[in-house]
Amino acid sequence: MTATPPPPELLDDPDAIVGASGAGKSYIGRRKVEQLLADGRQVILFDPTGVWYGLQSDAAGTGRGFDVPVFGGPHGNVPVRPDQGAAVADILLAEGKSAVLDLSQFDEGDLRGFALGFLGPLRHRERVNLHLVFDEAEEFAPQTAPDDTGFQLVRQMTWVAKRGRVFGLVPTFITQRPADFAKAVLSQVQTLYFHQLIAPADQAPVKAYLRANADKATLQQVESSLPELGRGERWIYSPRRKLLQRGRTPAIATFDSMATPAPGEARREPPTRTDLDVEKIRTALAPAPAEGERAETQRIIDEAGGALADVLAARDRRIADLETENASIRRELIEVDRMRQLAVETGQRATDALSRTAIFAAEQLDAVAQNGWRSLVESDAARRADKTPATSADVAEEAPWSDTSSAPLSRTAGFSSDASRSQGRRTRAPPHRPPPNPTASIARWAYWPRSRPPG
Ligand SMILES: Nc1ncnc2c1ncn2[C@@H]1O[C@H](COP(=O)(O)OP(=O)(O)O)[C@@H](O)[C@H]1O
Ligand SMILES: [Mg+2]
Repeated sequence: MTATPPPPELLDDPDAIVGASGAGKSYIGRRKVEQLLADGRQVILFDPTGVWYGLQSDAAGTGRGFDVPVFGGPHGNVPVRPDQGAAVADILLAEGKSAVLDLSQFDEGDLRGFALGFLGPLRHRERVNLHLVFDEAEEFAPQTAPDDTGFQLVRQMTWVAKRGRVFGLVPTFITQRPADFAKAVLSQVQTLYFHQLIAPADQAPVKAYLRANADKATLQQVESSLPELGRGERWIYSPRRKLLQRGRTPAIATFDSMATPAPGEARREPPTRTDLDVEKIRTALAPAPAEGERAETQRIIDEAGGALADVLAARDRRIADLETENASIRRELIEVDRMRQLAVETGQRATDALSRTAIFAAEQLDAVAQNGWRSLVESDAARRADKTPATSADVAEEAPWSDTSSAPLSRTAGFSSDASRSQGRRTRAPPHRPPPNPTASIARWAYWPRSRPPG
């Protein structure tokens, strides 16, 4: 199969390079970047795998390659921190320098933060001709953003793919997981380089891209070859340029830092070098706070921490006091409830006893009254039999209720033989006194017959 480099007319089109791991994506990407650098273009490489430093050396790793400084990573000429994306962008755009941004030592969050910091200012720049290469592009533009920074970064990447051209930005997205790469970004590319793809999920976005742009014959031809393409073998498809080409990427001119050493073989590392004034860049990048400043910051943090610890300790003590107080109130409430219950029960028992006593007393009174009646009737009968001229008045005089306000039982009960007298009493208006107490009357009545001997 013929080895052909990426056609020069495609170099300024936004593109994507897809394929399984080890299929040759970074390799063809390197070939393309070498062409651009040789052409004097400015290229910035976003490198999460730490392999692009090889650009600095020739293929043998003994001579010089391109003057492309490496920021960050184990081969970095200048170290960078995750918060320095914007500062690095400023320096590189001001100097018009190409660079490798080795983000391999950042975690995913820092990597996204750095990239977002870098891309943000690009919207506000003069028109440039700047190539942006994102290796492992699904890290920068995932189909599902993992957090807020990721979400903003995907928006930024979509902007680069859609509108970057207006600003002179030309992106290249390299991904081994097209299924996880943001569809909104992939759909914007004008050229697709695709290598061996085995997983149906990863074939799907490529087939969708082909279906949207290619005729049926092209589609069938390409689809069936996807799983069987060899290492370094790829299709190039540019609907815009009406180009479909199967071929093999020719050997790169710089050090193949992507190659895995054979078993037992020691890895050969070329020296890292650049013509860049590294010290100037170090100074330009926001310097870390000086020792004195750091100590002062630490002192302020410690002080604030100490005060906070005091507040927290006081709060804990207050909570403990309140809990003790709470427990004692709860115990008191239980006691009050127990007493209330006792009072209710005692009251109930007292009421029961009283009712029983009252019933007993009423029964006793009733019995006494019955006896009294009987004695009265008998003595009255005896008096009549003896023709004793006794009147109800005599009874009234001698009766303990001689108080005229209480109606004598003899009258009200019809025992009077003196009809005229009782008649006269009835016509008179009764004195305004409280009504007689029947229980007291019964009691007096009950007492009287016994205290007065019959006859
Ligand atoms: N066209 C090629 N010619 C020669 N070697 C290649 C070619 N493509 C890939 N390779 C070898 O395969 C290795 C892995 O390729 P690489 O591009 O890093 O894979 P990936 O697709 O994972 O990025 C490279 O380091 C290189 O040694
Ligand atoms: Mg790679």
